[in-house]
Amino acid sequence: MEGNKNPYITDLSVELPKQSYTLTIIDEAGKEHVISVDPGKIPYEDHGLPGSILDICMGTGIELDHACGGVCACSTCHVHVLEGLESCNEPTESEEDRVDEAYDIKPSSRLGCQCVPNGTMNVRVRIPTVNRNLVREPHGEDSMKTH
Ligand code: FES
Repeated sequence: MEGNKNPYITDLSVELPKQSYTLTIIDEAGKEHVISVDPGKIPYEDHGLPGSILDICMGTGIELDHACGGVCACSTCHVHVLEGLESCNEPTESEEDRVDEAYDIKPSSRLGCQCVPNGTMNVRVRIPTVNRNLVREPHGEDSMKTH
C-alpha cells in the first residue's frame, strides 16, 4: 500500500475546492472551531483523502480519531455534516459500509477521512461524542459497571 491511500478504493470522484470556504467543527465537548480552508494548503496533513475533513482537522490541530490512519477501514472518524453536505463528494460503497458500523448514524453521517467539501459552500460538522467512547473505553462486561 502506498502512503495512506487504500488501493482497493478506485471509484472516487473528488472535486477539490478552488476557493476558500469556512469549515466549522463542533468538537465532542461542544466547542466550535472555525477554520478558513485555503485550497492552496491541500493536503493539509496527508491524513485521509486530500482536502477531507480529517486532513483539515489534523492540519489545524483539531482532534478527530482516525484509528485506521484515514484509509476507510474503521468508523472512528465518523462525523455529522450539519451544513454544506451538498458540496461534499458522494460517499463510496466502502464508506457507506463503514458508516453502517458507527454509532449514532444520521442521514448526515460521513467519514471524516473520506468526506471532501468542494468549497462552494461553508460546511459545519459535529464530532459525535460516542466516537471517543468506541476507541477509549474497554470492551466487555467490566465497562458496564457503575463506579
Ligand atoms: S480514519 Fe478509519 S475510516 Fe476514517
